[in-house]
Amino acid sequence: MEAAGPPTQPPAPHPSVAPLSFLLGKWRGEGEGTFPTIAPFRYGEEILFSHHPSKPVISYTQRTWKAASGEPMHAESGYWRPRPDGSLEVVIAQSTGLAEVQKGSYDAEKKTVTLQSELVGNASKVKQIARAFQMVDGELSYIVQMATITNSLQPHLKALLKRI
Ligand code: HEM
Repeated sequence: MEAAGPPTQPPAPHPSVAPLSFLLGKWRGEGEGTFPTIAPFRYGEEILFSHHPSKPVISYTQRTWKAASGEPMHAESGYWRPRPDGSLEVVIAQSTGLAEVQKGSYDAEKKTVTLQSELVGNASKVKQIARAFQMVDGELSYIVQMATITNSLQPHLKALLKRI
Protein backbone atom coordinates (compact mmCIF):
# COMPACT_ATOMS: atom_id res chain seq x y z
CA MET A 1 0.00 0.00 0.00
CA GLU A 2 1.24 3.48 -0.88
CA ALA A 3 1.87 5.88 1.96
CA ALA A 4 -0.20 9.06 1.83
CA GLY A 5 2.19 11.83 0.73
CA PRO A 6 1.96 15.58 1.16
CA PRO A 7 -0.60 17.37 -1.06
CA THR A 8 0.71 17.54 -4.63
CA GLN A 9 2.00 20.94 -5.78
CA PRO A 10 0.83 22.25 -9.16
CA PRO A 11 3.51 21.29 -11.73
CA ALA A 12 6.09 23.98 -12.51
CA PRO A 13 5.23 25.94 -15.66
CA HIS A 14 7.21 25.42 -18.85
CA PRO A 15 10.52 27.37 -18.62
CA SER A 16 9.38 29.74 -21.38
CA VAL A 17 6.17 30.48 -19.50
CA ALA A 18 7.72 30.74 -16.01
CA PRO A 19 8.69 34.47 -16.32
CA LEU A 20 5.02 35.26 -17.03
CA SER A 21 3.61 33.05 -14.28
CA PHE A 22 2.36 36.20 -12.51
CA LEU A 23 -0.38 36.26 -15.18
CA LEU A 24 -1.55 32.66 -14.82
CA GLY A 25 -5.01 32.09 -13.38
CA LYS A 26 -8.41 33.71 -13.45
CA TRP A 27 -9.02 37.46 -13.11
CA ARG A 28 -12.18 39.49 -12.71
CA GLY A 29 -12.73 43.22 -12.62
CA GLU A 30 -14.10 46.33 -14.23
CA GLY A 31 -13.06 48.65 -16.99
CA GLU A 32 -14.03 51.75 -18.89
CA GLY A 33 -14.08 52.40 -22.59
CA THR A 34 -13.54 55.68 -24.41
CA PHE A 35 -12.73 56.99 -27.87
CA PRO A 36 -13.36 60.40 -29.44
CA THR A 37 -16.09 58.94 -31.68
CA ILE A 38 -18.13 57.07 -29.02
CA ALA A 39 -19.93 57.59 -25.69
CA PRO A 40 -17.84 56.38 -22.71
CA PHE A 41 -18.99 53.06 -21.21
CA ARG A 42 -18.27 50.80 -18.22
CA TYR A 43 -17.86 47.05 -18.40
CA GLY A 44 -17.20 43.95 -16.30
CA GLU A 45 -14.52 41.51 -17.42
CA GLU A 46 -13.14 38.06 -16.75
CA ILE A 47 -9.77 36.87 -18.09
CA LEU A 48 -8.29 33.37 -17.88
CA PHE A 49 -4.60 32.70 -18.57
CA SER A 50 -3.96 28.95 -18.56
CA HIS A 51 -1.17 26.65 -19.66
CA HIS A 52 0.09 23.09 -19.74
CA PRO A 53 3.63 22.55 -18.37
CA SER A 54 4.67 20.66 -21.52
CA LYS A 55 3.92 23.60 -23.87
CA PRO A 56 5.70 26.98 -24.21
CA VAL A 57 2.39 28.79 -24.62
CA ILE A 58 -0.28 30.47 -22.50
CA SER A 59 -3.95 30.17 -23.54
CA TYR A 60 -5.89 33.40 -23.15
CA THR A 61 -9.66 33.85 -22.99
CA GLN A 62 -11.53 37.01 -22.13
CA ARG A 63 -15.18 37.99 -21.94
CA THR A 64 -16.87 41.26 -21.04
CA TRP A 65 -20.35 42.40 -20.07
CA LYS A 66 -22.24 45.66 -19.61
CA ALA A 67 -21.56 46.89 -16.08
CA ALA A 68 -25.18 48.00 -15.61
CA SER A 69 -27.09 44.99 -16.98
CA GLY A 70 -24.65 42.07 -17.27
CA GLU A 71 -25.46 41.74 -20.97
CA PRO A 72 -22.51 40.22 -22.91
CA MET A 73 -20.22 42.59 -24.80
CA HIS A 74 -16.92 41.95 -26.57
CA ALA A 75 -15.05 38.64 -26.11
CA GLU A 76 -11.72 37.40 -27.43
CA SER A 77 -9.28 34.54 -27.11
CA GLY A 78 -5.84 33.57 -28.26
CA TYR A 79 -2.35 32.34 -27.46
CA TRP A 80 0.63 34.06 -25.86
CA ARG A 81 4.08 32.76 -26.81
CA PRO A 82 6.80 34.19 -24.55
CA ARG A 83 10.46 33.60 -25.42
CA PRO A 84 13.38 33.36 -22.98
CA ASP A 85 14.92 36.56 -24.44
CA GLY A 86 12.00 38.61 -23.07
CA SER A 87 10.16 38.93 -26.37
CA LEU A 88 6.63 37.73 -26.85
CA GLU A 89 4.16 37.13 -29.64
CA VAL A 90 0.42 36.95 -29.20
CA VAL A 91 -2.42 36.01 -31.56
CA ILE A 92 -5.95 37.08 -30.67
CA ALA A 93 -9.32 36.41 -32.34
CA GLN A 94 -12.01 38.92 -31.39
CA SER A 95 -15.76 38.24 -31.28
CA THR A 96 -16.20 41.06 -33.81
CA GLY A 97 -14.30 39.00 -36.40
CA LEU A 98 -11.09 41.03 -36.08
CA ALA A 99 -7.81 39.08 -35.89
CA GLU A 100 -4.62 40.43 -34.31
CA VAL A 101 -0.97 39.41 -34.33
CA GLN A 102 0.87 41.28 -31.57
CA LYS A 103 4.59 41.46 -30.88
CA GLY A 104 6.28 42.93 -27.87
CA SER A 105 8.17 42.24 -24.70
CA TYR A 106 7.76 41.44 -21.03
CA ASP A 107 9.67 42.37 -17.89
CA ALA A 108 9.44 39.55 -15.35
CA GLU A 109 10.68 41.72 -12.46
CA LYS A 110 8.48 44.74 -13.11
CA LYS A 111 5.65 42.37 -14.11
CA THR A 112 4.80 44.30 -17.25
CA VAL A 113 3.92 43.31 -20.81
CA THR A 114 3.77 45.65 -23.81
CA LEU A 115 2.41 44.66 -27.21
CA GLN A 116 2.06 46.39 -30.58
CA SER A 117 0.03 45.00 -33.43
CA GLU A 118 2.06 43.67 -36.30
CA LEU A 119 -1.05 42.62 -38.16
CA VAL A 120 -4.72 43.62 -37.80
CA GLY A 121 -6.91 41.54 -40.09
CA ASN A 122 -10.54 41.60 -41.17
CA ALA A 123 -11.15 45.02 -39.57
CA SER A 124 -13.30 47.70 -41.19
CA LYS A 125 -11.96 50.62 -39.10
CA VAL A 126 -9.03 49.50 -36.93
CA LYS A 127 -5.52 50.17 -38.22
CA GLN A 128 -3.38 49.50 -35.14
CA ILE A 129 -3.77 48.13 -31.59
CA ALA A 130 -1.40 48.55 -28.62
CA ARG A 131 -1.86 46.66 -25.36
CA ALA A 132 0.02 47.29 -22.09
CA PHE A 133 -0.38 45.15 -18.95
CA GLN A 134 1.01 45.93 -15.51
CA MET A 135 0.67 44.36 -12.07
CA VAL A 136 -0.28 46.99 -9.48
CA ASP A 137 -0.31 45.81 -5.83
CA GLY A 138 -1.22 42.26 -6.92
CA GLU A 139 -3.94 43.44 -9.31
CA LEU A 140 -3.78 43.21 -13.09
CA SER A 141 -4.24 46.51 -14.93
CA TYR A 142 -4.17 47.08 -18.66
CA ILE A 143 -4.64 49.77 -21.27
CA VAL A 144 -5.69 49.08 -24.87
CA GLN A 145 -5.08 51.79 -27.44
CA MET A 146 -6.20 51.77 -31.04
CA ALA A 147 -5.78 53.77 -34.22
CA THR A 148 -8.65 53.79 -36.70
CA ILE A 149 -9.18 55.13 -40.19
CA THR A 150 -10.34 58.40 -38.57
CA ASN A 151 -8.33 58.67 -35.31
CA SER A 152 -4.66 58.29 -34.30
CA LEU A 153 -3.47 55.81 -31.66
CA GLN A 154 -5.18 56.59 -28.34
CA PRO A 155 -6.87 54.81 -25.42
CA HIS A 156 -10.01 52.74 -26.03
CA LEU A 157 -10.00 50.59 -22.86
CA LYS A 158 -8.57 50.55 -19.39
CA ALA A 159 -9.34 48.03 -16.65
CA LEU A 160 -8.28 46.68 -13.27
CA LEU A 161 -8.83 43.01 -12.33
CA LYS A 162 -8.37 41.00 -9.14
CA ARG A 163 -7.30 37.37 -9.03
CA ILE A 164 -10.23 35.04 -8.25
C1 HEM B 1 -16.41 51.03 -30.47
C2 HEM B 1 -12.54 48.47 -31.74
C3 HEM B 1 -12.57 46.24 -27.49
C4 HEM B 1 -16.90 48.15 -26.64
C5 HEM B 1 -15.34 50.54 -31.16
C6 HEM B 1 -14.96 50.99 -32.49
C7 HEM B 1 -13.90 50.26 -32.84
C8 HEM B 1 -13.58 49.37 -31.76
C9 HEM B 1 -13.15 50.38 -34.16
C10 HEM B 1 -15.67 52.07 -33.32
C11 HEM B 1 -14.94 53.38 -33.17
C12 HEM B 1 -15.37 54.38 -34.21
O1 HEM B 1 -16.40 54.17 -34.84
O2 HEM B 1 -14.65 55.36 -34.38
C13 HEM B 1 -12.18 47.70 -30.67
C14 HEM B 1 -10.96 46.92 -30.59
C15 HEM B 1 -10.97 46.30 -29.38
C16 HEM B 1 -12.19 46.68 -28.72
C17 HEM B 1 -9.91 46.83 -31.67
C18 HEM B 1 -9.95 45.39 -28.74
C19 HEM B 1 -8.66 45.48 -29.01
C20 HEM B 1 -13.77 46.52 -26.90
C21 HEM B 1 -14.25 45.94 -25.67
C22 HEM B 1 -15.48 46.46 -25.46
C23 HEM B 1 -15.76 47.39 -26.53
C24 HEM B 1 -13.49 44.92 -24.81
C25 HEM B 1 -16.45 46.18 -24.35
C26 HEM B 1 -16.12 45.82 -23.15
C27 HEM B 1 -17.10 49.13 -27.58
C28 HEM B 1 -18.28 49.98 -27.59
C29 HEM B 1 -18.13 50.84 -28.68
C30 HEM B 1 -16.88 50.46 -29.32
C31 HEM B 1 -19.45 49.94 -26.61
C32 HEM B 1 -19.09 51.95 -29.12
C33 HEM B 1 -20.32 51.45 -29.72
C34 HEM B 1 -20.05 50.58 -30.88
O3 HEM B 1 -19.48 51.06 -31.89
O4 HEM B 1 -20.39 49.36 -30.81
N1 HEM B 1 -14.48 49.55 -30.75
N2 HEM B 1 -12.89 47.54 -29.53
N3 HEM B 1 -14.70 47.40 -27.38
N4 HEM B 1 -16.28 49.44 -28.61
FE1 HEM B 1 -14.53 48.56 -29.01
